[in-house]
Amino acid sequence: MKQICVIGVGYVGIVTGACFADLGNKVVALDVNEKRVENLKKGIMPIYEPGLDELVKRNVKAGRLSFTTDYAEAVNGSEFAFIAVGTPSGVKGEADLQYVAAAAKSIAENMTEPLIIINKSTVPIGTGDWVADIVRRSQPKPIDFAVVSCPEFLREGSAIGDFMQPHRTVIGSFDRDAASKVAQLHLPLRAPIVITDLRTAEMIKYASNAFLATKISFINEIADICEALGADVKEVAAGMGYDARIGRHFLDAGLGWGGSCFPKDVLALAYMAEEAGLEPRILNTVMDVNYERRKTAVSITAEMIGGSLSGKTIGLLGLAFKPNTDDMRDAPSIDIANELNVAGASVRGYDPVAMEVARGILPAVQMYTDPYEMAQGCDALMVVTEWNEFKQLDLDKIKGLLNTPVIYDGRNIYDPARMKDMGFKYRAIGR
Ligand code: NAD
Ligand code: UGA
Repeated sequence: MKQICVIGVGYVGIVTGACFADLGNKVVALDVNEKRVENLKKGIMPIYEPGLDELVKRNVKAGRLSFTTDYAEAVNGSEFAFIAVGTPSGVKGEADLQYVAAAAKSIAENMTEPLIIINKSTVPIGTGDWVADIVRRSQPKPIDFAVVSCPEFLREGSAIGDFMQPHRTVIGSFDRDAASKVAQLHLPLRAPIVITDLRTAEMIKYASNAFLATKISFINEIADICEALGADVKEVAAGMGYDARIGRHFLDAGLGWGGSCFPKDVLALAYMAEEAGLEPRILNTVMDVNYERRKTAVSITAEMIGGSLSGKTIGLLGLAFKPNTDDMRDAPSIDIANELNVAGASVRGYDPVAMEVARGILPAVQMYTDPYEMAQGCDALMVVTEWNEFKQLDLDKIKGLLNTPVIYDGRNIYDPARMKDMGFKYRAIGR
């Protein structure tokens, strides 16, 4: 049984801690947020993630997973310390490393035995060396340590499955012994292991996220061309996806990408390129294409209800940045609601799990606990998040509740022919 500590129990930290505990390790998970730790001790999860509640409770009960705010308790006796704190966008688009720096310093101040420090947060190229420097300078007396990069590739909403069955494990370090120990720790996941240097491992993470974001912006541009020329982007994506060189994943056209990662990571990579004297033309375009989607969705909805949004009521089906999460960070719903408000519309919202978080972020949006109640008296509905429950809505009932039967389907969840037959004024993406 290895002892591991995980620093930061947000989306990545709590999943990492619970999964490593489930693999038979002893895990101490630490956060500086006292409320978060207090809640976890009571069995209250900090986030909504399918399967997490059960996984955490099972491992706490088995004595393999515990929570603390005390760095000494977390670090003492641990062979590995995973850093999983946030790296949000700074003012210039750079990754803000203040939480990583604070975590590295606290680990160094509290370590009493040799330790392998593993960076799981998404961090700019060169951060591993910088973390090593912070640790060296903050140790009260010199103790052996190694810094290893092991970026995380899980997706919210399917985080446990993604963690337990990764496509690959990337390990970056100059210390062969440390890299080999981290590889051993990941062996039960039975995924290909890529061992490389620190900077390359850090770059693999950014390049992967930027590539996926590029794929989505690409298919969104194709969707616009399909719409103009009379093709169906859903079938185009399916037809393209059979080619193994292209693949079917991440070719769903819609309102574009949001969330806590693609937006900040594409921006941070572009910032790094510019700092290095390069012009990241593709990355800049990928971002422009993406953010344009949100504006276009609002202008098409306006057109569908006669041109002006002033005095109209628009209902948003879905607020989270994607289904199966309550994460609202850079959710398209935020820009869409704000654009609608600026244009003079009243905005309503319904989301199966993100409403509580959304209330704090979108105070001008009137929240409803039922999609049918929300639809009553609306001039149009916009599908913003493709929650499964929206796919089976009673559309006849919805039609009867709306002032005008207008639906803008930003996630292509309905069949255009059926919607037309039902008498809806309906617009989808690229179809
Ligand atoms: P998060 O904001 O959900 O959680 C971060 C946690 O770290 C918070 O609970 C915060 O209180 C805690 N924290 C901050 N400073 C701390 C400190 N000094 N000591 C201990 N705890 C501290 O973040 P997240 O979404 O889990 O992302 C974490 C990192 O993982 C980011 O770099 C992100 O880019 C990367 N990542 C995220 C995902 C994802 O799906 N969310 C997937 C892959 C990689
Ligand atoms: C993404 C990556 O998929 C993970 O591999 C990575 O670990 C993570 O970022 C991260 O670094 O944090 P996540 O943001 O949780 O995961 O969710 P995705 O499923 O990738 O979706 C991101 C956004 O793209 C969502 O807004 C989603 O609606 C949009 N998307 C996704 C599309 O518009 N079309 C698609 O085909 C796929």
